[in-house]
Amino acid sequence: MSEDLPLNDLAVYLEYLSRHVPTFALPKPPSGRGKSGDREPLYEEEGTDPLIALRVKAEACQACPLSETRNKVVFGEGSGRTGLMFVGEGPGADEDRTGRPFVGRAGDLLTRMIVAMGLKREDVYIANTVKCRPPGNRVPTPAERAACFPYLREQIRALKPRFMILLGQTAAQALLPDSESISRLRGTECRIVDFPDIRVIPTYHPAYLLRNPEAKKVVWKDLQTVMGWMNLPVDHGDRKE
Ligand code: URA
Repeated sequence: MSEDLPLNDLAVYLEYLSRHVPTFALPKPPSGRGKSGDREPLYEEEGTDPLIALRVKAEACQACPLSETRNKVVFGEGSGRTGLMFVGEGPGADEDRTGRPFVGRAGDLLTRMIVAMGLKREDVYIANTVKCRPPGNRVPTPAERAACFPYLREQIRALKPRFMILLGQTAAQALLPDSESISRLRGTECRIVDFPDIRVIPTYHPAYLLRNPEAKKVVWKDLQTVMGWMNLPVDHGDRKE
């Protein structure tokens, strides 16, 4: 086999095979509508997942200096079949090592938040404003965010989420027109200029909640707001964590 084969990522490798080996075909994507959502299928054209092509592009991206220090591109994951998308800030050390978003301590908390909503992690889509880890877990610069924004925009375009939860200030700044602080924005329904059909709510980032557990109460309120939008059963009792 040639040294150029992308063996380190299954999705990329399958896409490579489907393009280069005439007898190999990618499995057909799920068609039809998800159980708790009635949105259009994720795929624009039968047999074509635009996210795979976008991911291949991101894996090779050198648009900003973060590409020089990353170990893995953290593209995003999940079927998004519920119509719900989360956007975080950027990969940390665990994500950079595994290539998966939100797998460290903040990720554990995010997974518990998703389960508390009555959903499975694999049924939402999780992405970040930047796909490569800022060294030392610093906040991505506006230039890094801008360089990476086309990937996030194309992810949204391909997934067509109906609901979006922005986790923290960086995600809110990347997608919303006003630059209000997250403490003022959180809990308010917002719109993204280029995607006016998506109901968007900014809330605190799970890493902030790990440092400030008292804020979990208001985040739970925000999640309940989204559960209402999604017609999920809303538990009005207070959550302990
Ligand atoms: N992990 C991520 O993938 N994103 C964050 O914003 C934080 C942790």
